[in-house]
Amino acid sequence: MCGIVGYIGLNDSKEVLLKGLEKLEYRGYDSAGIAVKNENGVSVFKEKGRIADLRAIVDDSVTGSIGIGHTRWATHGAPSKINAHPHQSSTGRFTLVHNGVIENYSQLKREHLSNVELASETDTEVIVQLIEGFVQQGLSTEEAFQQTLKELKGSYALALLDNEVADTIFVAKNKSPLLIGLGEDFNVIASDAMAMLQVTNQYVELMDKEIVILTKDAAVIKNLSGETMTRAPYTAELDASDIEKGTYPHYMLKEIDEQPLVMRKIIQAYQNETGELAIEDSILEAVNAADRIYIVACGTSYHAGLVGKEFLEKTAKIPTEVHVASEFVYNMPLLSEKPLFIFISQSGETADSRAVLVHIKGLGHPALTLTNVAGSTLSREANHTLLLHAGPEIAVASTKAYTAQIAVLAILAAVAGKAKGLEMSFDLIQELGIAANAMEAMTDDKEAFEQIAREYLSVTRNAFFIGRSMDYHVVQEAALKLKEISYIQAEGFAGGELKHGTIALIEDGTPVVAISTQENVNLSIRGNVKEVAARGAYTCIISMKGLEEEGDSYVIPHVNELLSPLVSVVPTQLIAYYAALHRDCDVDKPRNLAKSVTVE
Ligand code: F6R
Repeated sequence: MCGIVGYIGLNDSKEVLLKGLEKLEYRGYDSAGIAVKNENGVSVFKEKGRIADLRAIVDDSVTGSIGIGHTRWATHGAPSKINAHPHQSSTGRFTLVHNGVIENYSQLKREHLSNVELASETDTEVIVQLIEGFVQQGLSTEEAFQQTLKELKGSYALALLDNEVADTIFVAKNKSPLLIGLGEDFNVIASDAMAMLQVTNQYVELMDKEIVILTKDAAVIKNLSGETMTRAPYTAELDASDIEKGTYPHYMLKEIDEQPLVMRKIIQAYQNETGELAIEDSILEAVNAADRIYIVACGTSYHAGLVGKEFLEKTAKIPTEVHVASEFVYNMPLLSEKPLFIFISQSGETADSRAVLVHIKGLGHPALTLTNVAGSTLSREANHTLLLHAGPEIAVASTKAYTAQIAVLAILAAVAGKAKGLEMSFDLIQELGIAANAMEAMTDDKEAFEQIAREYLSVTRNAFFIGRSMDYHVVQEAALKLKEISYIQAEGFAGGELKHGTIALIEDGTPVVAISTQENVNLSIRGNVKEVAARGAYTCIISMKGLEEEGDSYVIPHVNELLSPLVSVVPTQLIAYYAALHRDCDVDKPRNLAKSVTVE
């Protein structure tokens, strides 16, 4: 989490930095700052709150053609102006921004900085003070930077200014994402390419433990031993319009609406010349060589994994387990003889998932990453990648990535099954097309969901979602979506589990939303709805065409039952969206969250 940017060139850097930070705000938005350097030295502006709050305090009359910036998601130290980056060394000579977490910062403070009074509570300040300390001991800035990096344990993307080195930004990366953007008479740095698409689409990837000496004309990449590395730039295939809201009031609404298009893009991307669904041979071999698949993911991606398990077991007949990444390394199950790990991650940067990837690679097991971001850390470090083709997802609450993950998992299972001689009982391309049309019908019917949100969720403190079988997976995602953006305490339960405890929470007027898309459990989930209604719950049933009964609140179009999560999740996304809107919540940037969770 946190995002960093930097610019070194001929023009004033402020606007490039601020615009870049606006694009990175999804990575953290509790405070922000920039440092601008000119011949008189460095000016630092920082503020608690959003980039808009920072903009308001930046002095327009200060200009400088070198600058660095940061948007923060607090880890060490509360969100405040003092803890906001950039941080400076005691003499003010060095100025630093940092994305990541320094695990041994207390030890470093104790061992090296006992005589230094720190201004903030951050781990970052320790880095900049260490650099100054090493320079005072006689090292050059580059040597001090390198020496400091050798001392650090943890993750970092760093950009450092030195008042006494006129034309350089010192850059380094370990575990946190960072790119160098190349331009004519300028160079930039950014946590992701979107931030600097305003000035360039040419980027150079950095590897862990690399340093860059960045000037306006060159980006010299070195490893920690000082050896120079060469690496060709790549063109970021991003369309600037993909990352704009256009006429939408919120990214989340735009991204919900994009889901039918994403389905169609996925079908296209995974079709071969003869129009059949196809996946790279090496991936199919890896899947079919596995005696068990371990899906590892977090949050919404984990929920997509729950649906993926159904596909892999039912269609490809491969036993599959789904694990929350943050638990996996510390509480590892007994692995099978030939495991394959599938990491599902929209961002491809989630630290909890990456920790598992590093661990299982160390054990010699193969890994496949499903991600929306080509070139992301999880993609680079796994043996194989399948892309989601969802386009940039900017809203913190994931929507189109979830349905894209499910669609790609369905294709993977179908193609892997077929390679083993197992035919699906339905035409997946056709059924995904039907699901895309169904999504479209519902995104065209927004008033219905706004009305449900108004009726059920306007005044409540809590809400329950219930479902069985495939619908149980979806209600877990529905609850997460509602709680993260509307702050209504929401839980998703298996309908049959209610009476084993949770039903005690049902009071007069408690909203309970049930999803019913599976014929074999339709009657039992309706029975569970009756049980909670009898205890005062205010019940709402979202059913699928063919299973509907009079009085259901919404009937979604009929789709193949196995693919129903693609479609039944859409009403819950829209209900969460409107519930948040009615409560005046910041839909795209909910409190305490960040889009890319790059700390464990
Ligand atoms: C919720 C949400 C998160 C992410 C989770 C994993 O709407 O977006 O729960 O799904 O942080 O992120 P990725 O998929 O980037 O690994």
